[in-house]
Amino acid sequence: MEHEITLVVNGAARRVRVPARRLLSDCLRHDLGLTGTHVGCEHGVCGCCTVLLDGEPVRSCLTFAVTVDGRDITTVEGLAGPGGLSPVQRAFAECHGLQCGFCTPGFLCTVTAFLEANPAPTDEEVLEGISGNLCRCTGYQNIVKAVHRAAELLAEEA
Ligand code: FES
Ligand code: FES
Repeated sequence: MEHEITLVVNGAARRVRVPARRLLSDCLRHDLGLTGTHVGCEHGVCGCCTVLLDGEPVRSCLTFAVTVDGRDITTVEGLAGPGGLSPVQRAFAECHGLQCGFCTPGFLCTVTAFLEANPAPTDEEVLEGISGNLCRCTGYQNIVKAVHRAAELLAEEA
C-alpha cells in the first residue's frame, strides 16, 4: 500500500507517494532526485546518509519516509545559502577535509548541527561529535581541523 506524504525538504514542500517501507534515504535520492545524500552501509553504521530532521542529525537509511510526514528535512543540497557555501562547507574545502567526498554530505550535516549546539568545541568534543561518521580517505585530522575552522568562520560571521 502506498501513502501520500509531504516532506518539507530544504524549505520546499514536496508531495510524494511512497510504500510504507520506503527509506527516507531512497525517497530523497530516488523519488526527489536529491542524490547529495549518500548511502554507504544502509545499516546505520557509516553516517554517510545523515540529514537534518527538524535540525537534528538522523540516519536517513534507518528512517522510514512515512514517519517524517510533514517534518522539516535539510539535506546537503540545502546547507548553502543565497551567499554561497555555508561556513562548514567552506571550512571542509579550505582544510582539505574531503578526498573522494563520499562521506562528506553526512559529515557536513552532522557538523552543522554539532556546531549549532556547541559553537566552540574542544578537540575531544569534536572527536565525540563526529564519532558517528566514518571516512575511508582522510584519516580525520583534516576533518577535525575543518570543524575548528568552521567554528571560527561561524563566530566571525555571527
Ligand atoms: S548508509 Fe546510513 S549509516 Fe550508512
Ligand atoms: S572523503 Fe572519502 S570516504 Fe571520506
